[in-house]
Amino acid sequence: MVQRQLPNPAELLELMKFKKPEFDGKKRRLDSALTIDDLRTIAKRRTPKAAFDYTDGAAEGELSLTRARQAFQDVEFHPGILRPAPSVDTSVEILGGPSALPFGIAPTGFTRLMQTEGEVAGAGAAAAAGIPFTLSTLGTTSIEGVKATNPHGRNWFQLYVMRDREISYELTRRAAAAGFDTLQFTVDTPVAGARLRDKRNGFSIPPQLTLGTIINAIPRPWWWYDFLTTPKLEFASLSTTGGTVGELLDAAMDPTISYDDLAVIRDIWPGKIVIKGVQNVEDSVRLRDAGVDGIVLSNHGGRQLDRAPIPFHLLPEVRKAVGDDFTVMIDTGIMNGADIVAAVALGADFTLIGRAYLYGLMAGGRAGVDRTISILRTEIERTMRLLGVASLAELEPAHVTQLTRLVPVTRAASDAVVR
Ligand SMILES: Cc1cc2nc3c(=O)[nH]c(=O)nc-3n(C[C@H](O)[C@H](O)[C@H](O)COP(=O)(O)O)c2cc1C
Repeated sequence: MVQRQLPNPAELLELMKFKKPEFDGKKRRLDSALTIDDLRTIAKRRTPKAAFDYTDGAAEGELSLTRARQAFQDVEFHPGILRPAPSVDTSVEILGGPSALPFGIAPTGFTRLMQTEGEVAGAGAAAAAGIPFTLSTLGTTSIEGVKATNPHGRNWFQLYVMRDREISYELTRRAAAAGFDTLQFTVDTPVAGARLRDKRNGFSIPPQLTLGTIINAIPRPWWWYDFLTTPKLEFASLSTTGGTVGELLDAAMDPTISYDDLAVIRDIWPGKIVIKGVQNVEDSVRLRDAGVDGIVLSNHGGRQLDRAPIPFHLLPEVRKAVGDDFTVMIDTGIMNGADIVAAVALGADFTLIGRAYLYGLMAGGRAGVDRTISILRTEIERTMRLLGVASLAELEPAHVTQLTRLVPVTRAASDAVVR
């Protein structure tokens, strides 16, 4: 029998502890986001459909992106137990310099379109967190503007080698003069991928006002206020005539780039050089032998070739083939700090975040990017503690099993015989 009594007013009073209301709407909004997915939800609510879809979307059926995210979710971790780790060290040495966390911000084009603070928010948040920031060739803040925002931290520059080579060379020289320490040479865009959401939305740069955009703008007044009251949205380093994103990319990119271009860039660029968009073991080895400082296993966040290999699945094989001393970074699909821990365990020296950063930016400008970094930091630290490791160097392949849903048909057949 449960014994009952009259409620005790003193006990009741003790339960009635109300939280102080948060009157700062942005802070309240960002504090309520516990995951990158939560930031995505806020971003979607606050950003015009065409801009959100440009960021969130990928090429064709968006299978590359879906599969890459799935691959991270299909990780099984193997924790060690009774290994005291009172504190965890999340810092790494990457490409000759420090980073407080095992990730940096990936290059993204048109960033001020997502939210007017754009690259300044990204570079500022990266500086505060002690991680590298990468500026895209298609950035909407100048090389010098990023340097002014992050004067003491690490700035990296992403290069597209364009039809007009001299434009690319000039940008390379400018980034070097501004003290950027690493060049990411992107090689997975001989032509633009088919971003169907952009086509369906009639998305163009600069954005065009149609009846649809105006109706969509009504619940998103702040984005439009920012857009109309801040400097014009345009490429900071390139002059263009406008058009759809695909048209702009196709005009700028050159399907004939080759190893010869790499040699020319190598001559111009004094710092570290990494090739971004590597998608197989053979190219990884060839690039190592060609003397670059590192590679980024990436399929451009699924925005180029749909059904491309999943970078996270390639990682163990690539690491085995190139050896321990060659820098291997990875991106595409990272939505959680645990994804980053899994990548490091399987041999990545470093990771890059694209959309995770942009969801934060759209959710709340600079404070939103700070929130992205803080969510990922918390998840990395917690995952490391739960695994029983005190530093990233202690992570090893044995901590992770990659469960796979997608098995090559031929291998499945031969595996079946072995089993
Ligand atoms: C909106 C957007 C713009 C991008 N622009 C560029 C770019 O200009 N240059 C480039 O090398 N990669 C670009 N990327 C690819 C990212 O650098 C990165 O490879 C990708 O976002 C990683 O996948 P994730 O978004 O799942 O993190 C872009 C990605 C997004 C989402």
